Amino acid sequence: MNLQGRHLIAPLDLSVAEMEGLFALAERIISAPEDFSDVCKGKLLATLFYEPSTRTRLSFEAAMLRLGGRAFGFSEPSSSSAAKGESIADTIRTIACYADIAVMRHPKEGAALVAAQSSSVPLINAGDGGHFHPTQTLTDLLTIRLERGKLGDITVGLCGDLKFGRTVHSLICAFARYSGVKFVLISPDELRVPEYVRAEMNDFAEVRDLNEALPDLDVLYMTRVQRERFFNEEDYIRLKDSYILNAAKLRNAKPDLMVLHPLPRVNEIATDVDDDPRAFYFRQMKNGMYVRMALIMSLLGKGQF
Ligand code: NCD
Repeated sequence: MNLQGRHLIAPLDLSVAEMEGLFALAERIISAPEDFSDVCKGKLLATLFYEPSTRTRLSFEAAMLRLGGRAFGFSEPSSSSAAKGESIADTIRTIACYADIAVMRHPKEGAALVAAQSSSVPLINAGDGGHFHPTQTLTDLLTIRLERGKLGDITVGLCGDLKFGRTVHSLICAFARYSGVKFVLISPDELRVPEYVRAEMNDFAEVRDLNEALPDLDVLYMTRVQRERFFNEEDYIRLKDSYILNAAKLRNAKPDLMVLHPLPRVNEIATDVDDDPRAFYFRQMKNGMYVRMALIMSLLGKGQF
């Protein structure tokens, strides 16, 4: 696997073999993090966040710091020259003068692709509007792989906002390439998976009722209704509590179900689920840092460890 100098903009930018290489590296980092503590010494990571973030930005920064590199950037566009009207292309040209690798989150679909076209350093898409979020997918798949030992032959329920949820779109596109993956899409009619994502799946069912779908699932991927992508607040209010998973509902689920959520959660998982051994969302967020360490190393040409 040689990812040196590449961008990661969309989930299919990585082949299955390349993803597996990243997971293997992430697992080695998890088992001996101290072996990696100066792999990126002298390297700089820039974080360009035009949208709110807690986990993604901080896990990227923590990842770079844990590799012995350094990180800098902005966490709101009002503090960058975007506020003066600078284009994304010019901003990324600037950043490429200062940093060795960059991570960008932007509210517009396609923004990361536009930036990558003007970037002389590897650029990682940390979310472009309601489109894709490929490093969340690496996080999600690593979490499943660590628990089950492999990624095929599995029934995956995705529940909530499947229309605007970029983590859902990325996960489906990447996961559909493994054999024996069956998707159960659980959403209100108005929040169904868009056509370009639907086209990636070989085996899927669409349902409205979570309780009905739950007993068959090996993974349940809960998502937040993406308020910031709605055109009007009334629709958001009507749809926001469409699904609320709680301990009582989980009684009908498999004993080895994995409940995942990219976080942040609003109401869609009650806190009485948090102590259930099937709740994986906090472990998932930790795995995000390790797989981002593997990704940063690899894009910087230090993945042959
Ligand atoms: C997700 C995102 O930004 O798309 N968050 C994350 O990166 N973990 C999910 C969300 O905001 O609902």
